[in-house]
Amino acid sequence: MALFGIVGAGLMGHGIAVALARAGHHTRLHDPDPAALADLHDRVEKALELTGTSGPASAAVQDLVSATSDLDSALRQADVVVEAVPERMAVKHEVMASVEAVVPAHVPIWSNTSVLSITGIGAGMRHPERLVGVHWWNPPHLIPLVEIAPGDATNPRLVHEAEELILSLGKTAVRLQRDVPGFIGNRLQFALVREALHLLDEGVCDAQTLDTVVRTSFGLRLAAVGPMENADYIGLDLTRSILANLAPHLSTATESFPALDKLLTDGHRGRATRQGLLTWTDHRAIDVAGRLVDGIRRNLAATEAAVR
Ligand SMILES: NC(=O)c1ccc[n+]([C@@H]2O[C@H](COP(=O)([O-])OP(=O)(O)OC[C@H]3O[C@@H](n4cnc5c(N)ncnc54)[C@H](O)[C@@H]3O)[C@@H](O)[C@H]2O)c1
Repeated sequence: MALFGIVGAGLMGHGIAVALARAGHHTRLHDPDPAALADLHDRVEKALELTGTSGPASAAVQDLVSATSDLDSALRQADVVVEAVPERMAVKHEVMASVEAVVPAHVPIWSNTSVLSITGIGAGMRHPERLVGVHWWNPPHLIPLVEIAPGDATNPRLVHEAEELILSLGKTAVRLQRDVPGFIGNRLQFALVREALHLLDEGVCDAQTLDTVVRTSFGLRLAAVGPMENADYIGLDLTRSILANLAPHLSTATESFPALDKLLTDGHRGRATRQGLLTWTDHRAIDVAGRLVDGIRRNLAATEAAVR
């Protein structure tokens, strides 16, 4: 079993630790924020409950998770380093420099960046050949998919080894041939968000209606049948003709998202400020948290069947 040094013990760092420790790997987390370390084991416990792990099995996982505010002791003996710090290039560069000062050149570093370029992160490194994009989805202890991408300088052997390790956890690993911002999943996800915002800006419907349309139509089948399989299923001639008529009307916005920008200018950030695209009551916040987990669990069986 390997020892993983995890830099950043936030939402993703602790979930990645749970996914690794459940497979028997040792994990040592580092975070400069004492608050992130103080409740780490409580958060790990909650994550384990979600996976249905309890009693002695849960205690065994907890034993494999440790935390320290000292970067050196978290990483000194690590076989692999996992970076899960905030999504800003300057922070990634700063953290990579600190990590490289501690770990020998042969130790691979996995970045969990969502949308930053792996090549761009590697550009600030002494040994960019050891950097692999290994993108987990939230919550990492439940969601099967992990996307793996090389930067321009990445050693292909380390990409292969990352894939093998992720597969050995029982996860679904997909490999990108090259580094693109957003990997695959976030590109698809935010193409949908961009078009939804476009429909709002065009006054076609309100935000609640957009969610209703997705949840009661193609959202129902996405976990069972992917868009490529569906395109073949309905026929590529039909798919081509729909695109010929529709593509010219779809958003290609890259800078301006008026409805979203106005909300942000007015201080509305969504759930945290109780107003965003929708109005957030305490009840909605609790309800959404529950539906997120229940929905993922329900769809897991369908997803597993679909990728077989
Ligand atoms: N939240 C998601 O749904 C999600 C999903 C996939 C990938 N990611 C990516 O994972 C990464 C982490 O996201 P998150 O949601 O866990 O963020 P988070 O804010 O929950 O956690 C980040 C942690 O990093 C710590 N940190 C800040 N500076 C640090 C430093 N210099 N050294 C070590 N730790 C430091 C913070 O104290 C915090 O605990 C980001 O790149 C994000 O894009 C997030």
